[in-house]
Amino acid sequence: MLHCTADMTQLSNTNSSCKVRWKMWLFKVFVVTYLTAVCAAQDVPDATFVPTAAPPTTALQEVTTTAYVPPVPVLQQTSGWLEIFPSEKVKFSCTISGSSDWTFTWYRNGDKIDADANFSFPGDGSVLTITAATNSGKYTCKGQHKTKSVMTQSSNSLELKVHANRPKPKLSRGSDYQEMFPGESITFACLVDMSVGWQYLWYHNGREIPAADRNMYTIEPVAHSDNGQYHCKAKRGKDQFYTEESEPTHLRVSDPPTPTLKLLSTWSDVFEGEIVEFSCEVSSSDWMSKWYRNEVKLQEDEDTIVDEEGLELNITSVTKAHQGDYVCRAQLILRRVTSGASNSINIKVYDDVPTATLSKDGFNPMYVGETVNFTCKVTVSSGWTYQWYKDENELPDTSETISIFLGLSDKGRYSCKGIRGDTTETKPSQKTQQDVLEIPVPSLKNETQWLDVFPTEGVKFRCEMPTSSDWTYTWYKDTQEVQADANMFDKGDTTTLIIHSASALHRGKYSCSGKLKIRSVKTSPSSELRLDVYDTKPRVTLMQNPEHSLMHTEDKVSFSCHINVSSGWEFLWYKNNIKLQVSGVNHNISSVTRANAGLYKCKAERGTKMVFNTASQTLKLDVEERPQASITLLTGWGEAFSTDSLVLQCEVTDDQYKDWNYTWFRGDQLINTSLSVRYTVTPNNDPDQSTYTCKGIRTERPAYSKISAPYKTRNLLLKRRVLLSITGVLFFGIVAVLLGCISLRFIRKPADDDDKPEEANLFLTMAQLKDCADAPCPLVEYVTDADVNPPSKEGDENGTICSETTPLPITSPEDKAVMSDNHDTTENNGGLVSFQQ
Ligand SMILES: *[C@@H]1O[C@H](CO)[C@@H](O)[C@H](O)[C@H]1NC(C)=O
Ligand SMILES: *[C@@H]1O[C@H](CO)[C@@H](O)[C@H](O)[C@H]1NC(C)=O
Ligand SMILES: *[C@@H]1O[C@H](CO)[C@@H](O)[C@H](O)[C@H]1NC(C)=O
Ligand SMILES: *[C@@H]1O[C@H](CO)[C@@H](O)[C@H](O)[C@H]1NC(C)=O
Ligand SMILES: *[C@@H]1O[C@H](CO)[C@@H](O)[C@H](O)[C@H]1NC(C)=O
Ligand SMILES: *[C@@H]1O[C@H](CO)[C@@H](O)[C@H](O)[C@H]1NC(C)=O
Ligand SMILES: *[C@@H]1O[C@H](CO)[C@@H](O)[C@H](O)[C@H]1NC(C)=O
Ligand SMILES: *[C@@H]1O[C@H](CO)[C@@H](O)[C@H](O)[C@H]1NC(C)=O
Repeated sequence: MLHCTADMTQLSNTNSSCKVRWKMWLFKVFVVTYLTAVCAAQDVPDATFVPTAAPPTTALQEVTTTAYVPPVPVLQQTSGWLEIFPSEKVKFSCTISGSSDWTFTWYRNGDKIDADANFSFPGDGSVLTITAATNSGKYTCKGQHKTKSVMTQSSNSLELKVHANRPKPKLSRGSDYQEMFPGESITFACLVDMSVGWQYLWYHNGREIPAADRNMYTIEPVAHSDNGQYHCKAKRGKDQFYTEESEPTHLRVSDPPTPTLKLLSTWSDVFEGEIVEFSCEVSSSDWMSKWYRNEVKLQEDEDTIVDEEGLELNITSVTKAHQGDYVCRAQLILRRVTSGASNSINIKVYDDVPTATLSKDGFNPMYVGETVNFTCKVTVSSGWTYQWYKDENELPDTSETISIFLGLSDKGRYSCKGIRGDTTETKPSQKTQQDVLEIPVPSLKNETQWLDVFPTEGVKFRCEMPTSSDWTYTWYKDTQEVQADANMFDKGDTTTLIIHSASALHRGKYSCSGKLKIRSVKTSPSSELRLDVYDTKPRVTLMQNPEHSLMHTEDKVSFSCHINVSSGWEFLWYKNNIKLQVSGVNHNISSVTRANAGLYKCKAERGTKMVFNTASQTLKLDVEERPQASITLLTGWGEAFSTDSLVLQCEVTDDQYKDWNYTWFRGDQLINTSLSVRYTVTPNNDPDQSTYTCKGIRTERPAYSKISAPYKTRNLLLKRRVLLSITGVLFFGIVAVLLGCISLRFIRKPADDDDKPEEANLFLTMAQLKDCADAPCPLVEYVTDADVNPPSKEGDENGTICSETTPLPITSPEDKAVMSDNHDTTENNGGLVSFQQ
């Protein structure tokens, strides 16, 4: 019984060290077996109890038979236990075997016991019932023979121990875990370490657990309903003696903690070769974890490593096979508790590495000083850093977007790729060309031709960029920005600055600068153009040369238009406000006619786009008919017989202009000496028949007259011949000549058409006509020719009789004689007058 107690104590002490389950099991087996064996005997104490101190009865009887020795009563416990507690009863019996002739007296610690409240026994005293709790002691009995006064010896003694207090069972538990999880098992043991014969009662949350009466109570498997307070107590005896309640113990049943699966590596969507790392987090450190992919428990291999605590999983180089849903479960290794599954994390493994996409926030080309932004994007997964390249050289940047403040050296082809970890990089992006240009300087030009202009004249400047057309311009005058009203730009286009009507205010140096319409690129200012604006309009002067306002026909007059400043003028000419079809600075009239009279004006203008013009004063030109000179023959008809010279007189008959001197022309030859009004033609000075003209000249204007009509002299010999040889038949001759001339005229005309003489000319024709008009002429010629130059000799039969070109051979001998004879008759030219008419 002491062993049992010790073991029970031991049992309660094992809790914390009890780590190995099989040990517990062994222990349990042992305890159960032992207790069953030992305590089973106590359960039927009345039946099986054999006091060890009692000698066998048979041996005693043998002694009595030989010499009477009063029998030794046998003290026996008949109910109850030798160790009792207050309120328990114990019964002893005192018997002498085989005889009922005895009464018995009882002794406690050698003192005789009287029946009282605490002790009772029947008349013969064979049974002692002890009811009090304090009567510990050594009990014996003695028998007294009913009839004989024989006292037996004291019986064997029974030591009764009465405890002052009710015992309190000790409750111990098979495992001392704070917390139990469904499915585990636990055994409670209840032990009353005093006395024996206990029957146990188990309570869960104060309620008795039915059918649990052993000293051990095992819950297997533990369930949530088992949560709570447990205690036990024990009872024994027919009168249901109860021990006190044990100290309670608590069983906490809860579900195993659900671990949290965390991805320690950055990405759940990964590329082959990358690392995936998980941790399985459980509230307490007693747990390990088990790993599952797609609900299959993971096997460790060289790629799949679980750390020592079992709480981290490394997949050092992911392959496609590692794809799947991962969960972990927490596990208490020694207790075989496994939690539910953690949250699941899906690991996706991409087949291919993606391609980075490069995008540009900017233009091509761009200018120095602008900022271009490149953005590299990898649309798959996340966590990329970027590697940038310019012309295959790595750039130091690693961000997704790079901003480049452009310089000329930044021109190049840009590309990028995404990188993460040590193992993954994307395919490189496409390459994007970025050109960088110096900001060009705009060129300022004048669209109108002059930079020195007049008030009201228009000016246009044009600002131009060599490259694209996306520029707007800012205009400056003397470095101040031109506050341009809309008027200054054509349809808001700042390319051209228009000064519609210049004034002195506009004088200055102009320049422009460009700005890109949608970007903040500004050029430096262009070179300057200086605009001069004259204070006043220019003076246009019309000049006439000669300056006389009255001109005579045939006069030459030259107008010229002068403008006193600037250049580039075009001149327009107006007569009587009607535009003339002439241009140029001069308007020359080489020979004026009456029609040229009028009011003359010129205008100067310039500009093609914006015409500026200004007019001259008006000049009046009057034109008079030039006086006409005419020749008269002073030699009279009657003088034909007395002279062989002709006196011609030149006359300008004009009321207005007097005081003429005259010049004479033979043919077109100026007759040098003669300035006189008359000119005498003699055979000497006019050996040939000549045509004479004259004109008047004077010192005043008009300086000369129109030239006279030509006057043709005749061979003076003719007159003499006619007068001397055919005097008598003059009249008939005249008639004949008249008739002949008329007939000849009819004959000659067709011949003329047939065979025109080579030497025919205007002069001849005029002379001829004149001659033909003068009736006597043909007759004279005819006679002359017939006489002096036979037609056969001259080849004149085709009617060239009228031709004055036929030389008159006045140098022939006969002629000379005639001429000399007629010297004194020079003045008498009357015969010729009629011819000449
Ligand atoms: C019986 O026992 C009780 C307690 O042990 C004691 O107080 C009482 O005196 C006893 N009675 C007698 C008659 O001895
Ligand atoms: C997993 O890998 C990381 C880094 O490579 C390391 O720090 C960690 O200790 C590893 N864990 C295990 C369980 O191997
Ligand atoms: C580039 O990025 C910078 C700063 O992020 C910004 O100021 C600039 O306007 C961007 N350039 C372009 C062309 O968008
Ligand atoms: C601009 O002005 C200059 C000087 O005045 C001139 O020579 C040139 O022809 C002008 N340009 C145009 C396009 O008219
Ligand atoms: C040209 O004529 C205008 C008008 O008479 C005058 O004001 C200006 O001074 C002249 N310019 C020159 C350069 O002579
Ligand atoms: C017009 O006359 C001027 C001077 O008289 C002369 O210089 C100029 O050449 C002439 N122009 C023409 C077209 O004859
Ligand atoms: C005519 O000629 C004379 C002499 O040559 C000269 O003295 C005179 O002035 C001239 N008269 C005119 C009108 O030319
Ligand atoms: C005209 O006279 C001048 C001098 O009197 C002379 O020199 C010249 O040669 C003459 N001309 C002709 C055509 O006779």
